[in-house]
Parts: sequence; structure tokens; C-alpha cells
Amino acid sequence: MTQDEMKLAVAQAAVAHIQGKLGKDSIVGVGTGSTANFFIDELAKIKHLFDGAVASSEATAERLKGHGITVYDMNSVDQMEVYVDGADEFDGRMNLVKGGGGALTREKIVAAVAKEFVCIVDASKQVDLLGAFPLPVEVIPMARSQVAREMVKLDCQPVYREGFVTDNGNIILDLHGLEVEQPKELEAHLNNIVGVVTNGLFAQRGADIVLMGTPDGVVEITV
Ligand code: A5P
Repeated sequence: MTQDEMKLAVAQAAVAHIQGKLGKDSIVGVGTGSTANFFIDELAKIKHLFDGAVASSEATAERLKGHGITVYDMNSVDQMEVYVDGADEFDGRMNLVKGGGGALTREKIVAAVAKEFVCIVDASKQVDLLGAFPLPVEVIPMARSQVAREMVKLDCQPVYREGFVTDNGNIILDLHGLEVEQPKELEAHLNNIVGVVTNGLFAQRGADIVLMGTPDGVVEITV
């Protein structure tokens, strides 16, 4: 099975997982990235079963609209049945690293509102310890150097993501060389640094269920 076939399989599994939970008024939160794109294409096949979606990025909003799915502003939504999104790393204990595509802040906001967070990954994303994938941190542009100096104190190497601006008009520092022993604590610590908008650790609000594509089929992981 190729990686794309695994992504398609988890996207289909996610649709099967959420289908029975959706009603005419339901809103689906939709993530960003190549796995999320497979999900969007599968979600479009059941668009008659729910009201609309909230997108975690401009790119996702465009893809949803392209399928004729209504995209709502997050501020007009007070309840969301489910949020479905990919991840860059998953540690087997429902903690994630996200933000490889730079959409981490909106992803975290949508995940916070959703009743259930369904994470869809292929097997290449599973790790014992988070941190091999450089941890994205969204930063207010004028704080870039100051935040980078603070990051160095954590024994990691912050790398400015050249030429990239988030949907919120900010920059990304990718933290290399971290070994994330305590994801919840590190997530909180990083978010406390002045100038940080948010970081890509999803531990305080991790996934509720992970659907992982493997060469032998989709594995469902919950804790
Ligand atoms: C986007 O900012 C990320 O959080 C994505 O969810 C993550 O990068 C996974 O993307 P892929 O599905 O393309 O690997």
C-alpha cells in the first residue's frame, strides 16, 4: 500500500466514523494538509447529511467550497460535532505535533471547540517520543528574534521558516532538536513566551481518537 492509499483509507474510515453522528444542523471542523485533503474529498460525498464546515485554513476553505460545502466563520459557530485533521507526529498517547503546513493556530482553535477530535494519519507519523519533526511555533513578526533567543534556552535550534506567512499574518519558527518528554508542560511553557501565538503541540487538547493507516488496514487508537 502506498502512503497515499493509506491516507485515502483513513479518510474513508473517518467519514465512516463520523457519518452516524451528523445531523442536518451539524458543523464539521476540517483540518489542513494532504491527509485532510483526502478527507475533504470523501466528506463531499456525504455533504447532504450535515449543514456545513469550519475550515482551519484558507486552503481548506477553498477546497471545501470547491465541493459545494458551506464554510462558516468560526465566530458564527457555537457547537461543532467533530474535528478531523492530520498530524505530523503522533506518540501513541494521543499527543500530537501539528503545523507542518503552518495552520497550527487555526487548527488549535477549531479543535478546542469540537466535541470530538478525530486524527487521521498514516503509520509514518507514529513515534515513541515527539520532537523528531521540528516543532512549529507561530510568532508575532516583531517578536521573532526575542522568541528565538528564548527558544535557544530550551536546548533546541529555532529555524525561521523563510518566505512563509501564516493565514494570520505571522511567522513560523521550527524548533529542531527537541525531545518532548512532557508534552503538556512544554506546550504551556512555549505558549507563555511573550510573542508566541501558539505552538504545534496538541497535548492539552490531544486527539480523542486516532485512525492510523497501516499496510494491513486502518487501526483505531483511543486511550
Ligand atoms: C497543517 O498545519 C498540519 O498541522 C497538518 O495537519 C500536518 O502537517 C499533516 O499534514 P499531512 O497530512 O500533509 O502530512
